[in-house]
Amino acid sequence: MNNAERKIDNEKLVTIERLCVKVRKRFANTVFKHLTSFIDKALKTNTVQEFVEIPLKQGCDLKALKKALTTLLARNGCDHCFEFKTSIFVKKSIAMELSPKQLFLNVFGKPASRLGIDIVGDIAILELDNRDIASEAVLKQFAEQFLNNYKHVKTVLLKTGGRSGEFRLQELKFLAGVNKTVTMHREHGCVFKVDVAKTYFSPRLAHERLRIARLVKHGENVLVMFSGVAPYVVVIAKHSNPSLVVGVEKNPKAHKLALENVKINNLKPRIELYCDDVKHYTVVEKRVFDRIVMPLPRDSQNFLREAVKLSSSKAVIHLYLFSSVEDLNVKIENIFSSLEALNVKLSLLNKVQAGQFASKQYRWCLDIELEKEKSS
Ligand SMILES: C[S@@+](CC[C@H](N)C(=O)[O-])C[C@H]1O[C@@H](n2cnc3c(N)ncnc32)[C@H](O)[C@@H]1O
Repeated sequence: MNNAERKIDNEKLVTIERLCVKVRKRFANTVFKHLTSFIDKALKTNTVQEFVEIPLKQGCDLKALKKALTTLLARNGCDHCFEFKTSIFVKKSIAMELSPKQLFLNVFGKPASRLGIDIVGDIAILELDNRDIASEAVLKQFAEQFLNNYKHVKTVLLKTGGRSGEFRLQELKFLAGVNKTVTMHREHGCVFKVDVAKTYFSPRLAHERLRIARLVKHGENVLVMFSGVAPYVVVIAKHSNPSLVVGVEKNPKAHKLALENVKINNLKPRIELYCDDVKHYTVVEKRVFDRIVMPLPRDSQNFLREAVKLSSSKAVIHLYLFSSVEDLNVKIENIFSSLEALNVKLSLLNKVQAGQFASKQYRWCLDIELEKEKSS
């Protein structure tokens, strides 16, 4: 086998293809200690599941290395458990400078048409254009490089479809690292246990959650409809001083994690979580709320009647919806017409863009103050 070194990025030599020896993780240190003269220490090793790929110096004497490895590993009770192969390595000195886009360019040999990354706890969820994925092997290689470059990431998953169904779940495929979907995510001094496959959670809403929390006034009763694993509930309880925060979520798995999240965050305000359909909860609940958060952008307009029923005589609702900039005013007019038909006086306090979900389509939050008229 010839030692190969291929310059992948002509501008800046950031990754190179190099002959390596692949050994089980538990032998990697032994190989480093005893066969140091064969190893190229300017390159980072790659961890690939249970194995470590150790880059070799250019022109190293393979016959001598093979002999030394065989003796060394046999002494450690493991005959012939190594393999020579070529792989792509990142240079140590610049490893941490690589952006995901650079990494993509280096591994795929062309820029990504689309590269979305969500980091939830120690899980990275990648979103790529299918047409960019040359082969499964190159995709895995990219995921391995991602792990090697971002040490706080332990799992790399690929998003294979959009969010769907009532629970707004995403389809994910395991690519590299630890094969898991549950992680602990930190945000604004709070921690959330999340299952990225079985529950909805978006780290991109962190800023929006804090915005809402800061609007909550002392002593308010707050209802979070569609509360998921309870990020709004927890951030509100942590960063403001309400009397009560109630969360209602239909997905039992999200509800279970929400209960854990309330516990682990040591929150002072009173919190109640219900695993229920908001429609049903509205029928059984007799209390009213000063503030109602409605984070279900695709569907929350179908719950306006419920929001009015559960609001105090003067309340604020935070209604989320998806819209382009052009369509927004018409959508707001329609929402206001539906609300006015329910006998409430309205005023639009704010409309906030809280993220983008597709080309020219944004997530908006309408902060609406409503005052119930006597007869409603
Ligand atoms: C867009 S997610 C938001 C979750 C959470 N608020 C967050 O920000 O992470 C909407 C959530 O509403 C839940 N859901 C959908 N329809 C529901 C209904 N009719 N009643 C209660 N929860 C519902 C879904 O299971 C999902 O967890």
